[in-house]
Amino acid sequence: MKAVVYDRYGGPDQLRVEQVPTPSPRAGQVLVEVVATSVNLSDWEGLRGSPAYARFGGLTRPARRILGSDIAGRVAAVGAGVTRFRIGDEVYGDNLALMGGFAEYAVAAESTLAPKPAELSFAEASTLPQAGAIALQAVARAKAGDRMLINGAGGGTGMFAVQLAAAAGIHVTGVDNARKLDFIRALGAERALDYRVEDFTRTGPYDLIIDLVARRSVFAYRRALNRGGRYFVVGGTVRTLLRVLTVGTVLGLATRARLGVLVVKEGPAHFGPLAERCVAGEVRIHIDRVFGLEETAEALAYVGEGQALGKVVVAVSGSV
Ligand SMILES: NC(=O)c1ccc[n+]([C@@H]2O[C@H](COP(=O)([O-])OP(=O)(O)OC[C@H]3O[C@@H](n4cnc5c(N)ncnc54)[C@H](OP(=O)(O)O)[C@@H]3O)[C@@H](O)[C@H]2O)c1
Repeated sequence: MKAVVYDRYGGPDQLRVEQVPTPSPRAGQVLVEVVATSVNLSDWEGLRGSPAYARFGGLTRPARRILGSDIAGRVAAVGAGVTRFRIGDEVYGDNLALMGGFAEYAVAAESTLAPKPAELSFAEASTLPQAGAIALQAVARAKAGDRMLINGAGGGTGMFAVQLAAAAGIHVTGVDNARKLDFIRALGAERALDYRVEDFTRTGPYDLIIDLVARRSVFAYRRALNRGGRYFVVGGTVRTLLRVLTVGTVLGLATRARLGVLVVKEGPAHFGPLAERCVAGEVRIHIDRVFGLEETAEALAYVGEGQALGKVVVAVSGSV
């Protein structure tokens, strides 16, 4: 099969298209003929090997040669013991443990996949699993009337989180670069701030801060919170993550705020509710660009360099 592989951490030039053996599903696994795979910041981080948590399982070399976790496609074969799917079923899911979505076929654990709603295209379905699970679990931490700030609001997760929060009556402030501010407002944010011009930690106080790209000091984050307010890192530098877990915990106890890491639960139970909202027309999916499989390096660079509004999709085969 055709696949986009890499053997060293680095830039998009490390990626090349190769013929590799088609994987076989083991017990409890499904072989998916991939139609579309959306790009997540985690793919870019896995390519770069940075932040350091992206080297989990492969300190000096990538543990998996093929990136791509958010897949949508058709079941091509099933391993022993698979009961929920049959050959030909349309499925989608976040294959973060095994990856392999930037290829014509990928194996995934049965438990990571859900039936693709007929109302969504393969491209649309592929945007939901990782970003959707994060967005739902982030917004669940706020209630109507709260002031919530989302740092990195113009990307994949932000796109869903802003819409879900605004629909729940939460007052949303979104932070991202200047190019994305109109987009963030159109999603329902009351305020949109350019992080290159404004320091959001001086614009609070907020009841909840969700940080997709954390890289500031815990004292700055604490300053931006209400009494009893909460700050959660979702992604960012390892230094910031560690500081939040250590200094942030102590600071939180001393000041009645809470600073912590949002450990996101994966799987159909955690992204399925968002798919239902999209099918009902309550949440929209914005796909900025669709790249071909041979253009996967460009697709990753487009996301990694922060140009994408919402999601970017790699069309692997057939009609997406
Ligand atoms: N905690 C968990 O369990 C868990 C699970 C899965 C994934 N994750 C992590 O969650 C994150 C999800 O990100 P995503 O997929 O939504 O990424 P994305 O689509 O790339 O969005 C991130 C946005 O942040 C912006 N940005 C970059 N630097 C910024 C800064 N200093 N201030 C404000 N905005 C900034 C980016 O634009 P520009 O670059 O143009 O500025 C981009 O619009 C990733 O880091 C991933 O590793 C965490």
